Amino acid sequence: MGATIIVGGFFGDEGKGKIVAHIAFADRPAIIARGGIGPNAGHTIEMRGRTFGVRMVPAGFVYPSARLLIGAGVLVDPRVLLSEAEALGVTSRIGVDHRCAIIEKKHVEADVHDPYLSQTIGSTGTGCGPAAADRARRITAQAHDIAELAPFVTDAAAEVNEAIEAEKNVILEGSQGFGISLFYGTFPFVTSKDTTASQIAADVGVGPTRVAETIVVFKTFPTRVGAGPFHTQMSEDDAKKLGIREFGTVTGRERRIGWWDPSMAKYSAMVNGATQVAITGLDKLDPSVKGASEYADLSAKVKAFLREAEVQVGVPFTLLSTGPEMAEIIDLREEKLLRA
Ligand code: GTP
Ligand code: IMP
Ligand code: MG
Repeated sequence: MGATIIVGGFFGDEGKGKIVAHIAFADRPAIIARGGIGPNAGHTIEMRGRTFGVRMVPAGFVYPSARLLIGAGVLVDPRVLLSEAEALGVTSRIGVDHRCAIIEKKHVEADVHDPYLSQTIGSTGTGCGPAAADRARRITAQAHDIAELAPFVTDAAAEVNEAIEAEKNVILEGSQGFGISLFYGTFPFVTSKDTTASQIAADVGVGPTRVAETIVVFKTFPTRVGAGPFHTQMSEDDAKKLGIREFGTVTGRERRIGWWDPSMAKYSAMVNGATQVAITGLDKLDPSVKGASEYADLSAKVKAFLREAEVQVGVPFTLLSTGPEMAEIIDLREEKLLRA
């Protein structure tokens, strides 16, 4: 057994939060650990009629039995983390790696007031870029320096590796997406770190030999917020005809909407080393499938899309999301992975 990594295959906001929440309830992990950049992420989870938005606490928090961890690679804004953890009632089970670098108010100010970051790049204004720069200059504080974080600091890498060693289920949650990776994305219109599966494993302190599954999440109609090229972007008119409008969880900015991009999906699955694909937004392709939880209930149009996309990407599509609610999903992992 090893860890399962969940990452975004397009430009972020693919619905990783929803997929993590489903997998957590289905697989009952001992630990859900977050990698990724920091509080620039915004995961949305809809469960039993309630909607949660999280930026620092792992999206898998909705599953009440897991230990929640934030890996050493993640930038932590203590104000965001503490207010979220208290509001969600998870203070008794969340841990922060003692080596996490700290986002201070000055980083947020620098992000918001630097015209290059805030206007040219269109950053989220959460201080991540300036804090990542200071981390590379080796001048940031770390979690073990911050009094308010004292009750939560831990060695997340040790906890996760001990759990994997004991054959417990562990989920490593990524954030952002392939197209905004500092290394592989549309530079310079990218975030401040790599976003691929290898990075998420490194963020949490898990070696490549300890990863069992890598699930790359795509959405039927990719979206992009902030500046930068988006070659399958559709016109506002087309988006309106399809009835698709999305707004960012962190910034509230309207997301640009695009058509399914098979070549980006294939490339991103390759660099991520995907063993499975999760696809969200099948209900946007065909509203008649909204809420379906059985493959047989999908329409001919959706089945044709899935067959073609699976051939294009070359990786089994195991998790098929038919709406934002956690239960709106078809989980084919058992049958598809046994067959493969
Ligand atoms: P980042 O870590 O910020 O990249 O975000 P994320 O990947 O967790 O996605 P986010 O929650 O920001 O955006 C996805 C949006 O799509 C949310 O509003 C979800 O509720 C919604 N969503 C997820 N799955 C589906 C689906 O199958 N259908 C529809 N219609 N919406 C979905
Ligand atoms: P930063 O990460 O705040 O520096 O923003 C850099 C770029 O990445 C901007 O285009 C942001 O819109 C984008 N970005 C950062 N985090 C996310 C995310 O979680 N979802 C989608 N886009 C993001
Ligand atoms: Mg998001």
